[in-house]
Amino acid sequence: MMRFSDVLALALALTVAGCTAPGAGAPAAQTLREPDVRYEPTPMPVVRQMLRLAEVGPGDVVYDLGSGDGRIPIAAAREFGARGVGIEIDPELVRRSEANAREAGVADQVVFRHADLFEAEIGEASVVTLFLYPDVNLRLRPKLLAELAPGTRVVSYWHDMGDWKPEKIDSARRAAIYLWRIPPRAAE
Ligand SMILES: C[S@@+](CC[C@H](N)C(=O)[O-])C[C@H]1O[C@@H](n2cnc3c(N)ncnc32)[C@H](O)[C@@H]1O
Repeated sequence: MMRFSDVLALALALTVAGCTAPGAGAPAAQTLREPDVRYEPTPMPVVRQMLRLAEVGPGDVVYDLGSGDGRIPIAAAREFGARGVGIEIDPELVRRSEANAREAGVADQVVFRHADLFEAEIGEASVVTLFLYPDVNLRLRPKLLAELAPGTRVVSYWHDMGDWKPEKIDSARRAAIYLWRIPPRAAE
């Protein structure tokens, strides 16, 4: 019969082995840090309204910052012929987005990056979509203005950008959709 101390030693050994043994299954991707915004999907009719407001077309590269289950990049690709990029901090949502893209038949037109939207490279975007929080929009604003090319359209569901006046406002089901355009850079 095993003594209590043997059982304890065995349990400890199994725990350590479970944490470190190679080949014990793919390690779960780590969350980079706590999300700035809780996951809540934009309703699909509003997704289409956002993409129409930005006049998305086949030449566009649509970045969704905080892309959730991938519905905005996927709709941009499937329904508007654009390329889509999702930036998402939750690795489980990145996996779900990739599966959704495959299911929608647009896996070659979209890519999902497990990244912090404040750290991500976004300069390639011609359209950026947001469904974040008011304070997150405000913290993001300097990055958008510094890194996006003049003329890039920025669309936000629900929240505005403080004193940066939108070019257009559309009313959606429960809230507004705002459209801005990155202005020309001031001459140095
Ligand atoms: C309100 S949901 C919007 C999801 C999607 N854009 C949509 O409209 O359906 C916000 C998303 O941002 C993600 N998120 C929060 N903070 C983030 C960060 N710092 N970097 C990347 N993604 C983030 C959350 O995990 C969540 O999926």
